[in-house]
Amino acid sequence: MSRIPRDKSWDSTRALLSEGYAFIPERCRRYQSDLFETRLMLTKAVCMSGPEAAREFYEPGRFTRRQALPKTALWLLQDQGSVQTLDGEAHDHRKQMFMSLMSPRAIRQLADLMARHWQARIPKWGGMSEVVLHSEVQEILCRAVCEWAGVPLTEDEASRRTQEFAAMVDGAGKVGPRNWRGMALRRRSERWARSIIEGIRSGTVKIPEKAPAHVIALHRNQDGAHLDVKVAAVELINVLRPTVAVARFIVLGALAMHEHPTFASRLRTGDDEDIELFIQEIRRFYPFFPLVAGRVLQDFDWKGYRFEKGAWVLLDIYGTNRDPRTWNEPERFDPDRFRSWDGSAFNFIPQGGGDHYAGHRCAGEWITIELMKQALRLLAREMRYDVPEQDLRIDLAYMPALPESAFRIANVRAAS
Ligand code: HEM
Repeated sequence: MSRIPRDKSWDSTRALLSEGYAFIPERCRRYQSDLFETRLMLTKAVCMSGPEAAREFYEPGRFTRRQALPKTALWLLQDQGSVQTLDGEAHDHRKQMFMSLMSPRAIRQLADLMARHWQARIPKWGGMSEVVLHSEVQEILCRAVCEWAGVPLTEDEASRRTQEFAAMVDGAGKVGPRNWRGMALRRRSERWARSIIEGIRSGTVKIPEKAPAHVIALHRNQDGAHLDVKVAAVELINVLRPTVAVARFIVLGALAMHEHPTFASRLRTGDDEDIELFIQEIRRFYPFFPLVAGRVLQDFDWKGYRFEKGAWVLLDIYGTNRDPRTWNEPERFDPDRFRSWDGSAFNFIPQGGGDHYAGHRCAGEWITIELMKQALRLLAREMRYDVPEQDLRIDLAYMPALPESAFRIANVRAAS
């Protein structure tokens, strides 16, 4: 077996935290290799990048997500017993439940709900001297997804739940206080979600049978039993929390409109294809999930390297989306590049790669795309606003990323 490049330092955890998104792609470039070995949190890890690496990583049955993330991140993003921690038939059975919520009609309903909540806020924004777009959109999405899922939400609860979901996303890539805050708020969310699952099962919470919270509460495992209440609550949160996180992509979309006025004007006057190209480029260009992690289930060889059962492997999302072998001038923001994209499930992986049903690729990818389209339509066609002087830089060490100012807008009015 040939050797692969090995990172020089004894342990690279500090480098990963300080370099953030650039950690894997920088080293792959430096070593001129699609993979290298390193140590993170005192454990040997193989990092890999690029479309071929993604193809290997998403080969069905090759990797498990169990014990692949530090507990602190896992707990904020997925938690024990969730679909992501399952493999084989158990995974496919649970994933089918998630995907059954993703019909085009259901997704349209969610996007319409978001638009309704958004439009209702425009007059209020008009009376504010400045609006922090990220926090406003998080709350809009929280209200919309709870209504869509059939989860009752009082007026008081809306901002509390928004804060909880936001803190989980914000704390996932951190160590220390931000992570602890996310964990504390997660506990509160879980208690709330468990009470909803119990209420649906006992009949005290009455919601339509097709509503996602109902589907999750009454879903049966392969053995015919309902999910454990705790697991059902985790899966309900796994629909609500990441939908609120779509606010990050929407804010990055607003930033892209601000920084690329020529493309932005096409959104105002063009057709839906222009919006689609634009949002794909946002998902490719801007940082969100830096990587996905897995543990090898069965030995295999790739590029002359033996991946042994149990080995810890990190696949680079950010760098794969900017790999120059697929993307011409990857550092340039250019929605038109998607006109000639080949549609591969491995060279553009902002929400994972491979198959949505048979693998771990994000269950909410279609929701994300539809919500982004709707939000950009609203920003471009239904409102006008100014973007005051502010710090719009994105720190690549801060995961998940956001412009420093969280994108402030002023002088908001409805488009005439
Ligand atoms: C905000 C933008 C989002 C990003 C960047 C994102 C990204 C990801 C990534 C990278 C994975 C892991 C893929 C892997 O392990 O190979 C994932 C999995 C998952 N995502 Fe998302 N996601 C987003 C939104 C959503 C939404 C809106 C939902 C639900 C409505 C959702 C639900 C899930 C679930 C349930 C999984 C686990 C799938 C499985 O293990 O089979 N995500 N997502």
